[in-house]
Amino acid sequence: MDNNFVELDLAEGHSAKVCLFGATVTSWMNDGREQLFLSSCSKMDGSKAVRGGIPLVFPNFGPWDNGPQHGFARISWWKMINNEKADGIAKAQFTLKENETTLSMWNHKFQILYDVEIKPGTLRTSLTIKNTGGDEFDFTTLLHTYLRVPDIEKCMISGFAGTRYTDKVSKQTDRSEDREEIRISSNVDSIYCNTKEHTLKGPGVDIEVEKYNLPDTVLWNPWIQKAKEMSDFDDDGYKKMVCIEPGYVHERKVLKPGEEFICSQKLSVVNGHQSSI
Ligand code: BG6
Repeated sequence: MDNNFVELDLAEGHSAKVCLFGATVTSWMNDGREQLFLSSCSKMDGSKAVRGGIPLVFPNFGPWDNGPQHGFARISWWKMINNEKADGIAKAQFTLKENETTLSMWNHKFQILYDVEIKPGTLRTSLTIKNTGGDEFDFTTLLHTYLRVPDIEKCMISGFAGTRYTDKVSKQTDRSEDREEIRISSNVDSIYCNTKEHTLKGPGVDIEVEKYNLPDTVLWNPWIQKAKEMSDFDDDGYKKMVCIEPGYVHERKVLKPGEEFICSQKLSVVNGHQSSI
């Protein structure tokens, strides 16, 4: 399905790839090194959300009474409306608006613009969500970013200390996080509220995650058993990834007719440090 991919080609070793199915960024190469995790058994034919890269969650994070888990954005076909390179930046813009399928689940008119931008050392992804209908609506949204790491057990992730969170694995709500740096060695699925920026550091990886208008962060690694249970996830893929997912999920964002909401994340490879994978 090559026609379904858009390439952002900045310079030798600096590129990104976006699948029109879900407007999912499936690859971010920085200085010749891949920074995103993409499962080798991910469906890439539009039959299921892409397992890896940056799937877009909208209009609902998690299980949804009206439709599939994480909403329809990641399983909709998006249109590319721009792809250009200028002043050391390669960028592309994608759009999604209501259609028969989305209206059957969520009876609201909307337009989303999704901007993907790379320059050496950084990837920025930004959503502009507009209410184009006559009624107010509410939603949750999230950038479900799968970061690639050489060895998750040797990584430390910061940016959560002092926040409240829900631990979906132990089913405990309103927990308090006191760890300055989190290490992962089991199934982790936590929704943190009011986080700031994050760092992901370890041998061969040094990434910074900055976010705008995305107050919360979901931290996820399925670990051994859950990885095996997912047909589109490599059995040992859990060792090579962590999802740090900036989102607006703790509360629902309300948009009145005509209003828009802009949010973004910026991923940076720190000090030109390169992943060795
Ligand atoms: C995370 C959720 O954001 O996404 C997890 O917190 C979920 O509970 C994970 O398992 C993957 O979801 P999916 O629908 O892509 O399998």
